Amino acid sequence: MKRSVISISSLFKSLRFPVAGLALVFFLDGPPRPASAQTAKSDDPAQTRAWAPAAIEHAQKMRIFKDPDLGSQPTPPVIPRFEVDGDASGRIATFQPGGPTFTALNPFFQNLGTNGRTCFTCHQPQEGWTVSAAGVHARFKASGGTDPIFRLVDGATCPSDDVSTLKAKRETYKLLIEKGLIRVGIPLPAPEILQFKVVLKKVVDPYNCTTNPKTGLTSPTTGIMSMYRRVLPSTNLGFLSTIMWDGREPTLENQAIDATLTHAQGNPNTPLTVEQQRQIVDFETGIFTAQNFDKEAGNLHALHATGGPKPLLQQLAKFFIGVNDPFGMNPKGAPFDKHIFDLYKYWQDLRGNDTETEARKSVARGEVVFNTIPIKITGVAGINDVLKVKTSMDFAAHATIRPMPAIIRSRHPWTSASPTPEPRALRRSTFPDCRSSPSNALMVRSLDRLLWSPIRAAH
Ligand code: HEC
Repeated sequence: MKRSVISISSLFKSLRFPVAGLALVFFLDGPPRPASAQTAKSDDPAQTRAWAPAAIEHAQKMRIFKDPDLGSQPTPPVIPRFEVDGDASGRIATFQPGGPTFTALNPFFQNLGTNGRTCFTCHQPQEGWTVSAAGVHARFKASGGTDPIFRLVDGATCPSDDVSTLKAKRETYKLLIEKGLIRVGIPLPAPEILQFKVVLKKVVDPYNCTTNPKTGLTSPTTGIMSMYRRVLPSTNLGFLSTIMWDGREPTLENQAIDATLTHAQGNPNTPLTVEQQRQIVDFETGIFTAQNFDKEAGNLHALHATGGPKPLLQQLAKFFIGVNDPFGMNPKGAPFDKHIFDLYKYWQDLRGNDTETEARKSVARGEVVFNTIPIKITGVAGINDVLKVKTSMDFAAHATIRPMPAIIRSRHPWTSASPTPEPRALRRSTFPDCRSSPSNALMVRSLDRLLWSPIRAAH
């Protein structure tokens, strides 16, 4: 991405600094805090949906740009109780303890909007219930760019882009095909709480979307900013402490309503019924996904290892917000234990030197590395400043999840009215490295090997 200069002047100060591409900067109205959640599970009542009406209106307004394709999403008739799919490093599996889901009967798979999309369009099991760039690329090729994921509203780099030929479509959906990115159009907060303005003349907008008043900002303080974001996995959701990359959704039910009105351009006069919301949330919180088989190490739950999706169900039973909190905020008072990973501890002492055993021992050594190698944390807003520690060596690499969402959240003018009171829990989506990986398989492996393990230390 080109380097560019954006100038943002707030009510209090003016700044000018180089950023990569177009950046939006929020100023804090209080000190940053480490990531946290308010209550159990995924709901965060501190969130307001002040951003939602304008985001929904924007998605509806984008109908002025007509999609040439109208087809609906191809969907399998059933998601079995245990589904296994091949991926780059072996096999990924989704486990539904409650039994199979017949897709015709569940609104997650139903066409509830106007552009042919369903939740399944962007959340598919073989890709860890998200989409990978490789998967999207394959869909573009197979469908000639007609699959419902290729819709102007947010599949395109900008809804105003050209889709008149296959070649033009290839360009218009480039960020989706090459990076798995969806355009998330979010309004600037209301003028009375906005603490900056965007000096449009000085913005370099490589996609001509945020700077075009039809699709973006209508003035330096009003309109839509386009963010390009990876689709988050809609699985293992019982472990969430906040919802969406920026934590802007208060509940999964609200998330489903908004997803239907934006991604699927559903009719705002007939939003999802309470029953539809319940079915969607029941489905997506009732599935567990992880890498289940590795090409080299074989079965990831062999010889007492606990990889694969099934152990996640037991993990969930032991999970609570703040479990093994490195900031000492475990509500049950238990101290932080940095020996977090124990999925593969029994593989440390395996005997034999055949390739599979060697690969297993390697996985076990990797787990030890994650548990024990400290990484210096210096100058990280949300950690060093909050803890008043210049350099922290306390946590191993895995234990300190990046505090980004907390920073974004507490900087969000929408939420700053009720900033999160205490650093209590950490959010799994703070691993951008795993999630932005081009290989979804890798991401899911990382989920399996990295993300769920912290939870284990609770027992
Ligand atoms: C066009 C693609 C697309 C469609 C269709 C779609 N989503 Fe998503 N989903 C995304 C993207 C992109 C994000 C992350 C956006 C963000 O954080 O700003 C996301 C995030 C989520 C999350 C948040 C997970 C987390 O870890 O916080 C859930 C849950 C979810 N979607 C469920 C759904 C449901 C339910 C539907 C159908 C009603 C749906 N999605 C339809 C693209 C899509």
